[in-house]
Amino acid sequence: MATSKFTSSTRSIPERDDGPRHVAIIMDGNGRWARKRFLPRVAGHVRGVETVRTIIRCSIERKVSHLTLFAFSSENWRRPAEEVSFLMQLFMRSLKKEIERIHENDIRFRVIGDLSRFDASLVSMIRDAERLTENNTRLNLTIAANYGGRWDILQAVNKLVATSGSVEDITEEALEPHLSMAFAPEPDLFIRTGGEKRISNFLLWQLAYTELYFTDTLWPDFGDTAFDTALASYGKRERRFGRTSEQLEGSAGDEGEALA
Ligand code: IPE
Ligand code: IPE
Ligand code: MG
Repeated sequence: MATSKFTSSTRSIPERDDGPRHVAIIMDGNGRWARKRFLPRVAGHVRGVETVRTIIRCSIERKVSHLTLFAFSSENWRRPAEEVSFLMQLFMRSLKKEIERIHENDIRFRVIGDLSRFDASLVSMIRDAERLTENNTRLNLTIAANYGGRWDILQAVNKLVATSGSVEDITEEALEPHLSMAFAPEPDLFIRTGGEKRISNFLLWQLAYTELYFTDTLWPDFGDTAFDTALASYGKRERRFGRTSEQLEGSAGDEGEALA
């Protein structure tokens, strides 16, 4: 069975003093940004795409290797049909417009989530974009679309069960390669804009030991400075992974050390 390249962060400790390798963001607050300006909610989504562009550039400049953006949750289908359809159109339009630039900038593009509810034309556009950029290495950009953390865990369990001989085969290590972010280290830093302090069914498994950062800034207002403030906050955290501060003092930089 294929094994994941990265050990779970709950088992391995990343190098101290490094910036985050993987930043995962819930881009929230587009609707409120628009409402504050007496604009329709969807105007906020349009502005939000500009922030996506800014944060991709910042991530490259700050040497983040994985950027994962929550664009549409499995619960977002509950929104008014016109908003859902606008978001789908915006996703398609943005992908069509930006994919060449993404490729030229050596960015690897992926989408995670249950694509079975999407139009075939959108799915084929996504798959083409993934193929086009599959050898790029500067930044791994992942868009979570129709994604839900519970869906992710369940689909991984289903795949594992289908290949397992007995219950003893069902282990964390065996499950991880089936999760939709198996290609990436677990997020080091989670950012949620827009003021809410919840995970909203984003990467439930993968966020087990992620540093959480919440800001009231609305996604369309989030920019270079706000991103740097989040990185600075991360830089001040002590990632103990169950250990004590004293233990960490004595073992700076023991990357990948397995916990007993
Ligand atoms: C986030 O902004 C974008 C998506 C969920 C697609 P919202 O649309 O949730 O904005 P608010 O939370 O209503 O302000
Ligand atoms: C979470 O935002 C999902 C995305 C940003 C895509 P929501 O605005 O939908 O989250 P809740 O429903 O308020 O928690
Ligand atoms: Mg919201």
